[in-house]
Amino acid sequence: MSGFFITFEGSEGGGKTTQVSLLAAALRGRGHDVVETREPGGTPVGQTLRQLLLRPHTGPPTDRLVSPAELLLMLADRAQHIHEVILPGLHAGRIVLCDRYADSTTAYQGYGRGVDLAEIARLNAFVCGACRPQLTFVLDLPVAVGMQRAHERRGAAAVDHFEAASVAFHERVREGFLAIARAEPARVCLIDAAQPVEAVHAAVLAGVRKRGPALL
Ligand SMILES: Nc1ncnc2c1ncn2[C@@H]1O[C@H](COP(=O)(O)OP(=O)(O)OP(=O)(O)O)[C@@H](O)[C@H]1O
Ligand SMILES: [Mg+2]
Repeated sequence: MSGFFITFEGSEGGGKTTQVSLLAAALRGRGHDVVETREPGGTPVGQTLRQLLLRPHTGPPTDRLVSPAELLLMLADRAQHIHEVILPGLHAGRIVLCDRYADSTTAYQGYGRGVDLAEIARLNAFVCGACRPQLTFVLDLPVAVGMQRAHERRGAAAVDHFEAASVAFHERVREGFLAIARAEPARVCLIDAAQPVEAVHAAVLAGVRKRGPALL
């Protein structure tokens, strides 16, 4: 694999999508070939899965995905995404920037929903194989700030399934991302996402300069 794989992780409203596009622009400015992608929904099959995973739950309880079903659909999305987008990009020597990846499964379905963490690690390993990010940014901010940003961005659109979850759920998810950052400091760069956009971007650039090969 000759490319470079960078993931952006963290709770809703942390600025992942914003920072992916800023980093993509910076890297393109240096002449790199960059793929910007996201999970769930980075492929046509994934788009269908994303709709199923994020749709607001207004119907009866039988209309809801149970946690193992949610987990397996996230992993199905990832398997398709790796096969269609991530590995082809890396094999072509591109820099792949992915908005959410395996750590989101650990944080949301593991820490958030309470699915066994060892089982998630096993399933993530099965699906990802050697396709692991060389660098991950966790954009961390207080839950209330993230929810407020997501709320402002959404405007009149419906609240999605994860956004509608309880504050306690989002606190567990945040703790999950912080635990991942503590456990894997060589891969994960933790950034205070409550800072202004430009300060977060500067921290991302510093992280790439420090941990990536001569990309910038
Ligand atoms: N550092 C920042 N300071 C203030 N507002 C920000 C910052 N970063 C992003 N925003 C704004 O907050 C909102 C959410 O940002 P963004 O969509 O990038 O977050 P996200 O992490 O991708 O969220 P989600 O997980 O819901 O997709 C947007 O309206 C964006 O313009
Ligand atoms: Mg986003």
